[in-house]
Formats: sequence, C-alpha cells, structure tokens
Amino acid sequence: MKVGVIMGGTSSERDISLLTGQEMMANLNRDKYEVVPIELNTKRDLIDKSAGIDVALLALHGKYGEDGTVQGTLESLGIPYTGCGVLASSVCMDKDMSKQLMQHAGVLTGEWQRVNHMEELSSIAVQQLTYPVVVKPNSGGSSIGTQVVKEASVLPTAVEAALAWDDTVMIEQYIEGEEITCAILDGKMLPVISIRSNAEFFDYASKYDDHGADEQVVQLPVDLHHRVEAAALACYQVLKCSVYARVDMMIREGMPYVLEVNTLPGLTRNSLLPKSAAAAGISFAELLDTIIELSLK
Ligand code: DAL
Ligand code: MG
Repeated sequence: MKVGVIMGGTSSERDISLLTGQEMMANLNRDKYEVVPIELNTKRDLIDKSAGIDVALLALHGKYGEDGTVQGTLESLGIPYTGCGVLASSVCMDKDMSKQLMQHAGVLTGEWQRVNHMEELSSIAVQQLTYPVVVKPNSGGSSIGTQVVKEASVLPTAVEAALAWDDTVMIEQYIEGEEITCAILDGKMLPVISIRSNAEFFDYASKYDDHGADEQVVQLPVDLHHRVEAAALACYQVLKCSVYARVDMMIREGMPYVLEVNTLPGLTRNSLLPKSAAAAGISFAELLDTIIELSLK
C-alpha cells in the first residue's frame, strides 16, 4: 500500500508538521507500506503531489491541514486520508465554536470572550474579565501567538499580537491547576498524561524542547479519572471526531476544564500522544497501523 506522508504546509505550525512527518516516516512499517514523503510548500502542492497514493497519512497541523480544507480536497480527489473528517476538523480548529459545543454537551471549559478588533476591548464583557486570562489566536496551535495576561494594562498588547496571527482572538479565563492531556484512539481514552511545564505555561518551547516540560503518565484518583474520561469522550463525540484526537484539560479543585481538542495532534518525538500510546503498550509503528486501518474502514 502506498502511504503518502503529507507534511509541511503553509500554517504557522509548518516546522512542527515536518517533525511529525519525519517521525511518522521513521516508524512506518516498511514491510507493509511503500512510504511516499509529500512535503507541501504551496496550497496547490496537495493536488499536484498526491496522485497515485492509496492513503494520505496526515502529518499536517494548523490552517490548511488540520482545519478541514485539506480533508475536503482529499475527499473531492477520492483519496482516503487519516484522522477526523471535514466537519470535526473544521469545528475543532475554531476554539470559540468548539467551546460553545462543549458547553452545550455539559463539559466544563473556561469562560471566554471572542474579539475581532481592538475597539472591542472597551466592551463591558471585556472590562469585566477577571485576571489572569489567556490570549490566543482562535484557530492557532502549538501556543503560537498565545500569552498569559495578568493585568488589564497588558491586554491590548497581547490581543494585538494574537490578531497578527488570526482575525479572531480568544480571551479566556486562566484556569489555575494541573494540566493534563487525554489521547483518544478509536473512541477510547489512552492513559492520561500530566504536564508540568518549566515555563509560565505550556508554551512552544516547553512543548518541543527536549527538557521543556515534565510529562508523565498519571494515575488519577478513580472518581477524577472517570470525570476526565467522561469529559474527553463527550468532547470527542459532540465535536464528531473519529479515529484519534487529543483533548487538553486543566484540573482545578478536582474538576476537569477542557482547553481544546486537537484533531491532528503532534506526533513528534517530544509529543504527548505517542507517550500515552506507549503507556498502553502501543508502539509508534502500531499506532500508525491502527490510525491507517481505522481511517480506511
Ligand atoms: N498543535 C500541536 C501540533 C498539537 O496539538 O500537538
Ligand atoms: Mg491545539
């Protein structure tokens, strides 16, 4: 079977995507697959370079990769691809919309305001925010353009910086607590990972530097584990995810607050999902086999 590893792309997470792609290529079982590296440098590249592959193994992150556009193009071309479909990809990329759906499903998530223009910072809702808050591009990833803001005077600078990455910016309540992440594979939650970042929050450097964060599989108390699992699966279902995804959360006072759902979570050598899979006895090669098999069903 010819597996096209689709990586690169034009989003702010291009570099991470190339690392995910490299890691996939290093781990794909060569006895089973003929591996075709496909690096996208322009939007047209997908159409030009994907001819002849049997399945597109998506190593893309962010806009034009994780947001449903590439998935839609591949659907139109009749090329099977891995991971979530068009709708889940596109909804999960929009943090504002996915949080609305999570709340609708009864999942806890920090309060937030969405802004599109600097003038909106004078609105009553924004004036009434309690600090700290987290400012992030609505459709961002890997914490690019994200800042923790501790006081109102710094808010405009942070929002302006985030608006450089996206037309819409989220100003979200900062949930003080323990960060965890929950990988889901085929509708089941894998072991939970606890994240202790060496920085103020789990920023780009802590995510990808070799010693940026301490990430350990954690055995949560049984009740909490059930609440975490229920929240992770509720998100996965309400956002119509399939095959695999990763749900990021903060635990505050024994309750999980969902930050977001990633439909093409990083699979670099420092990424969380492969660690979680390994803890469940699933090697990277087996993880890729499972992702491909489930996606072709
Ligand atoms: N957006 C990055 C790749 C992640 O969620 O792992
Ligand atoms: Mg993300």
